[in-house]
Order: sequence, then structure tokens, then C-alpha cells
Amino acid sequence: MLRSRVLTRIGASLDETLNRRVYDVLIRLPLKQRVSGDGMQAIRDLDQVRHFLSGLGPTALFDLPWMPLYVAICFLFHFWIGVTAVAGALLLVAITLVAELRTRQPTKAAAESGAARNVLALASVRNAEVLQAMGMGRRLGALWGSANAHFMDAQQRSSDVAGGLGAVSKVLRMALQSAMLSVGAYLVIEQQATAGIIIASSILSSRALAPVELAIANWRGFVAARQSWKRLGDLLGRLPARAHPMALPRPAATLSVEGASAVPPGGQRLAVQDVSFSLHAGNGLGIIGPSASGKSSLARLLVGVWSPLRGKVRLDGGALEQWEPTALGEHVGYLPQDVELFAGTVAENIARFQPDAEPEAVIAAARAANVHDLILRLSDGYETQIGESGQALSAGQRQRIALARALYGNPFLIVLDEPNSNLDAEGEQALTTAILSARARGRIVVVIAHRPSALAAVDLVLVMAEGRAQGFGPKDEMLSKVVKRVSHPIAASGGQCGQAAGAAILKVVEA
Ligand SMILES: Nc1ncnc2c1ncn2[C@@H]1O[C@H](COP(=O)(O)OP(=O)(O)OP(=O)(O)O)[C@@H](O)[C@H]1O
Ligand SMILES: [Mg+2]
Repeated sequence: MLRSRVLTRIGASLDETLNRRVYDVLIRLPLKQRVSGDGMQAIRDLDQVRHFLSGLGPTALFDLPWMPLYVAICFLFHFWIGVTAVAGALLLVAITLVAELRTRQPTKAAAESGAARNVLALASVRNAEVLQAMGMGRRLGALWGSANAHFMDAQQRSSDVAGGLGAVSKVLRMALQSAMLSVGAYLVIEQQATAGIIIASSILSSRALAPVELAIANWRGFVAARQSWKRLGDLLGRLPARAHPMALPRPAATLSVEGASAVPPGGQRLAVQDVSFSLHAGNGLGIIGPSASGKSSLARLLVGVWSPLRGKVRLDGGALEQWEPTALGEHVGYLPQDVELFAGTVAENIARFQPDAEPEAVIAAARAANVHDLILRLSDGYETQIGESGQALSAGQRQRIALARALYGNPFLIVLDEPNSNLDAEGEQALTTAILSARARGRIVVVIAHRPSALAAVDLVLVMAEGRAQGFGPKDEMLSKVVKRVSHPIAASGGQCGQAAGAAILKVVEA
């Protein structure tokens, strides 16, 4: 009982030491490289190691040092009794080696196919509506079936190996017991030993071989845990713990981008190439350009989600990587293109899950995003539970609450990636007001837009195409160029700068 308690606690203390690091790696890895599987392997690996450490497997190691002692006593009884025990031990060790060789591959295959199966299941759960609406359920079910079959197959192979070897070792142990009795009986008949030796040697040899048997029984778990441990080690080695740089003063003056280029994690091509510009407190920048021109990628660079391959992004002269991530987060508001909220209350989401958030700050952010009234109309106001990834809200409500989250704490740099894609006229008006008031407070606002209305509140425009900046300047100047040279209806409507107008500006700039 004590052993198993101690082991459980050893497992728990390993978990305690590593779980934060593993979580940290889990959330940083997708920003550095393409993640295979569902991205949760590290958590499963840690569980696997903890599970093994807490189980019976390691106790085999505790007993192993006694084995030579028992064998030595067998030799003291009689030379041939000792030899029988050693022969038995060698046979069992041979089985252990076979177990090692034959479980390694299926265990690895089981881990991999298990991850592949999970990816498919997760994607299906997320897209349950699509599967239902277009009757894709059965087809994806078939895919799932085959992924599952692979997994079960690998599981079965490793179980078969472990089970088979377990049975062989059991047979061997019984044979050994009989052999021991036979040898003892023979020695008694030959009058080389007393009858008591038969019983004593039978008991001792089974004690001596118990740890080997235990090891064989737990070999599968041991191999799995060892593979997990190696994967974890590789992963943690690839992403060393972050240093904690010294705190820098709150940024208040400039955002400068100096020849920044970026490659998406795991990608080959530059999504942003050599972009430079600088903004000052109070500036509002609109980024326009066709789809896949690198607007969202540039936004990720600005907020430090991706690190630039070349060049720098600086806040008040300090490159983003010089900031401690949590400290930097306080100065940054980011509204991603695909908004997802976390399960929790509206207030918690706006406060970015800060545990001691002041209600005043939450309400100030909600007011700045003009969603205070909208929130009060929800069933429980700020305490409304919004469900897993914000399901309980409409897309427009989600976007506006995410805007409040971006404005929480009055950050210096606010980057909004297509903030109006789901908004109605009232929402767009609220957004324009929010941008203008943030600028009036001396903040920098960057807005990526396909639709014209979001550009109403900016004073500068950056045009992107194929990852490069094609033009940067005051909004009116950029638009008047377009009006003069291209008589595009949206561009000519003055100040209204949609995707079509963006493309038109590109033509001018290229000309
Ligand atoms: N995580 C990623 N992994 C691989 N490639 C990516 C990733 N994110 C973006 N890209 C690639 O980078 C390029 C630019 O994408 P980006 O999302 O920045 O375009 P965008 O201008 O925001 O387009 P849209 O207007 O459609 O949102 C695209 O070719 C895209 O395939
Ligand atoms: Mg985008």
C-alpha cells in the first residue's frame, strides 16, 4: 500500500514540475512550426509517463537488486539448484528482450494512429453543422472508421505481443518451478540434499524471478512511457523555456516596422516580404489588399504572434521579442479574423481571464467597444455563460465582444483583423466610434478591411499585394490618386475603400 501511494505521488510530482512547461510548449509550438496530429501529443505523453511511474512497473526495479542474493542462496543450497535458477532467469530475460523488440514498433504506431484518429474526431465535432447540412456525416464516418481501424489494429498488435509473451513467461515460470522441485527431489534421492531444501529452493527461486516477471508484464507500458519521455524531451529541447526579460516602460509613442518579412509556421513561402512603415500615437492605419495578400500575416507580426524572419517590429524602439509576453500582451489588443471566445462568462472573456479584473475596467472596455448595452440585453448580462468557444452568441455579438476584449486595459497598439465582417450598420457605427476614440486617447489602431466602412476612422492606408507593401500614405492622398486615374465606382464614391478599390489602387501603384 505504501509503495503504491509513494509511486502515485512521484508521478504527481513529475506532472507538477512539467505540466506548465508542457502547456507553454503546446501553445507556442503552433506559432513556430506545423503541428502534426491534434497538437495534444505532449499532454498525452506526460500522462503516459506519469501513469507508468504511478503503476506497478517501477516496483520491478525495487526488487531487482535482491535477485542476485536469492540466486546466491540457491547456489549455497546446491550447485545444481543455483544453475537451475540462473537458467530460468536467463530465459526470462531473453523473453524480456523479445518483448522489447516486438512491442516498440506497434506501440509507436498506436500512438501515431491514435493522434490521427483524434484529429478527425475533433474536426468532425467542430464542423458538426456542415456534416449535417450537406449530408457528409456518413462519408466522414467511413474515414473515421478506417482511422479507427488503424488504431485498433496497432493496439491489438501490441496487446497480442504483450499477452503472448506474458503467457509464455507464466508457462516458463511453472516449468521452472517443476524443474526446481525435480532437481531438489533428485538431489534428495541421491542423498546430496535434505528434503527441506526442495521447499526452500522452490520458494526462493520464485522470489528471485518475481521482478523479471513483473517487468515482462509491464513492458508494454514501459516502452510506451519511454517513447513518450523521448518525444517530450525532444519537444521541450526544441522550445527552451523563455527567459524573463526586464520590464520595459509602457509604450506611448511609436510603432515601427523595419523591413519585416515572415514565413508562416511550417510554410515555405514568405507571406510578408520586406514591409516597412511607422506609426505614431493617434494614428489609425487601414490595411487593404486582395485575399491572400498577407494582411493577416502582417497583423500577426505586429502583435508578436509570429516572429519576423528578417527585420523588426518595434514599440517605442523596443523590438517585440525584448518584451516579456505577458507584459507585452497588456499593451496589445488583437482581434483575429476568426474570432473564437473561451468557455466562461462575457466578463471573463473581456477581461482576458484576468482573475482579479476590476468591474470598472471591464465596463470601460465594453463601453469603448460600444457593447455595454448589447451585453446588458443578454440573459445574465456580464455573467452570461457563452459556452464552448462562444457558441451561445451570434457571430456579430462574438465579434463585438472580442473587440471589447481587444480594448480591455486601454492597450497602446490595437490591431483589428476584419473587425466588421459580421457587423450590422449599428455595429459598424460602434466600431468607427471605438477606433476614433482610441485614437483620440493617443493609441495606435491598425484595421484590416475588405469592406469600406471600417476605413472611415483611419487616417493612413497601407496597400498590400503578394506579401509586399505597394503603397503607404495618408488615406485621402491614396484615394485621390485612385479617383484621378481609375474611375472605379467604389473608389470614386470617395473615401469608400473596398476590396475592389484596393485592387484598383494596386493597379495605380503598379503603373
Ligand atoms: N498558418 C499558415 N500556414 C501556412 N500558410 C499560411 C498561414 N497563414 C497564412 N498563410 C499563407 O500566407 C498567405 C497570406 O495569407 P493571409 O492570411 O495573410 O492573407 P490575407 O491578406 O489576410 O487574406 P484574406 O483577405 O483572405 O484574409 C496566403 O498565401 C496563405 O496561404
Ligand atoms: Mg486575412
